[in-house]
Amino acid sequence: MDALKTTPVEDLAEDEAAAELARLAKAIAHHDRRYYQEDAPEIDDAAYDELRRRNSAIEARFPHLIRADSPSQRIGAPPVAAFGKVRHAVPMLSLDNAFDEEEVAEFVRRIRRFLNLGEDAALDFVAEPKIDGLSATLRYERGVLVQGATRGDGSEGEDVTANLKTLQDVPLQLDGDAPAVLEVRGEVYMEHEAFAALNQARSQAGEAVFANPRNAAAGSLRQLDPSITAKRPLRFFAYSWGEAEPKVTGTYGGFLERLRGLGFRTNPQTRHGSSVDDLVAYHAELGHHRADLGYDIDGVVYKLDRIDLQERLGFVGRAPRWAIAHKFAAEQAETTIEDIQIQVGRTGALTPVAHLKPVTVGGVVVARATLHNQDYIQEKDIRIGDTVVVQRAGDVIPQVVEVVAQLRPEGTVPFTFPDRCPVCGSQAVRPEGEAIRRCTGGLICPAQLVERLKHFVARDAFDIEGLGKLQIPQLHEAGLVESPADLFRLASEPDRKAKLLELPRWGAKKVENLLTAIEERRRIGLDRFVYALGIRFIGEVNAKLLARHYHDLDHFREAMAKVAEGDADARAELEAIDGVGPKLVEALAEFFAEAHNLDAVDDLLTYVTVVPVEAPKAQATSRLAGKTVVFTGTLEQMSRAEAKARAEQLGAKVTGSVSKSTDLVIVGADAGSKAKKAAELGVEVVDEAGWLALAKG
Ligand code: IVH
Repeated sequence: MDALKTTPVEDLAEDEAAAELARLAKAIAHHDRRYYQEDAPEIDDAAYDELRRRNSAIEARFPHLIRADSPSQRIGAPPVAAFGKVRHAVPMLSLDNAFDEEEVAEFVRRIRRFLNLGEDAALDFVAEPKIDGLSATLRYERGVLVQGATRGDGSEGEDVTANLKTLQDVPLQLDGDAPAVLEVRGEVYMEHEAFAALNQARSQAGEAVFANPRNAAAGSLRQLDPSITAKRPLRFFAYSWGEAEPKVTGTYGGFLERLRGLGFRTNPQTRHGSSVDDLVAYHAELGHHRADLGYDIDGVVYKLDRIDLQERLGFVGRAPRWAIAHKFAAEQAETTIEDIQIQVGRTGALTPVAHLKPVTVGGVVVARATLHNQDYIQEKDIRIGDTVVVQRAGDVIPQVVEVVAQLRPEGTVPFTFPDRCPVCGSQAVRPEGEAIRRCTGGLICPAQLVERLKHFVARDAFDIEGLGKLQIPQLHEAGLVESPADLFRLASEPDRKAKLLELPRWGAKKVENLLTAIEERRRIGLDRFVYALGIRFIGEVNAKLLARHYHDLDHFREAMAKVAEGDADARAELEAIDGVGPKLVEALAEFFAEAHNLDAVDDLLTYVTVVPVEAPKAQATSRLAGKTVVFTGTLEQMSRAEAKARAEQLGAKVTGSVSKSTDLVIVGADAGSKAKKAAELGVEVVDEAGWLALAKG
């Protein structure tokens, strides 16, 4: 460095300046790491400041030479109006949960079954804390950070590159041999101390405080002005990867080591384990030390160590089969019930909600808790005035777990559950065998309608920015929006727009922004469209399954019309989709049998174009793409579950029975009637060896 310092900045030629900026970026990154991560600085503060000053001085003279990985970028780029969207090349997944030892044991057994392994075949796991933050992905091309994004809905997140660059734990440039592409994923979080200091400063400044470190981390990362993020002490632990060229191979433990070599922090609490006992012991131990870690964790994560086995196991829905989150027991507190009110949901379900004397449970103030349903209140004899134990676990809605009987005041009475909808007054009925009482008001019930509209505009549905929990009831009350299509009429009918402008809190700019946001949603993927309809039992995962299976709106509607008419083939096709159960089939049949639902959909389609979902990449190349296949008999080399998952990965539709629409039957040992039927119908048949060849892709 000494030699460099000697050339005054004014005398540097352009090529010298560029070369020096490159060296400075590397050197400063190196010293940052020594200081922040390894707590072992090699140079004193003055020398470090000098490097940064020189970097800034050169950049001031040659602004066009500012590098993507320049240390000056950590201070925060200029604010943006809104975040861009980033489509994740590899989806960002979530994890299934286990709550006790038995569920962990079942997780391991399931892996053995799927991989066709005996009980004593060795399996190695890595166990690590589950950080209570928000996940982010960092894309490096040839070692330089080019993009950073939030998880979003798992398929698409927000471009928060400038914000992520301000984190000291995020290398702007990788150390050592740089791969062509590597997306590093991990958790952004805030330590307890920093959280307390931030909240103290905010409360002194008269600003709202954050409920917990996770909210603080999320709020800090999603700032349109990165210089605000730069002032928030966010941290990052790396634990996963997305797109990678070359592929990530070997073991997860090895990958973590490599991450450290590239300049990332990985969790120092990470351990290896090879039995359920090892894993559960780790969980117990970490549970004891949890409070000393200095940051929130809500459980531990177990991951199968071998990456080749991870790949074979794959995913169900949004969660990998090779990893699981073992949660900690929920946090509890006592408080009293001040009132019990009934909420009416999107599908008319009446849900009792306890209004509580506010209490802090695991760091969050809780004022409301769900009482689930009529039976729950009755079984526990929950009354207004009771002292109760309230529990909160992770993201879930707080619940009342029990009544503290000895603290019951005199004069309380059992709660009587209403048999009419508290909002529209229609009868509320409870079918035999069901726990839920439902308002029969359908679309005449304003509560149901408002909830449906809220669902329609929600993030995973039409994702209309500027419309949410607060605005929908307002627009509905003003008579502006009574159906999904009405939302689009706001943008196309001048009268409605004029009325909107008259409402409180709707200035010209806000209205313009909303109308633009609505216009932007006139093209929508089939999966989101299906989800937005708000049919019972159709969450994001099921909506995706349906969209992938039926591909475009025409096929979907045609099939649903048949299902509603009771067509046996259409029903069988629907039931055969992996993950679709009988309740879902019923709900779809009911929805598509209702004339007013069909009218609402048609009305909506005068404004909206539904785009087919992209076929998974594998489809184009595999011989199985688009084929309907049936497995029968026992496969020796692969479990049925793995075979089925592999076939689906390759774009095939796996069904349970052989018919004339079957393209291929895979016959294992001891196959029975299905093999025979295939022969009768002249459907192509392959044996296990033939299947293994196809499975290679
Ligand atoms: S692994 C396929 N590891 O938990 C790999 N996730 O409930 C999926 N999380 O969205 C993630 N700590 O935000 C993994 N050590 C850890 C984690 C972790 C926290 C979060 C992550 C994820 C969520 C799933």
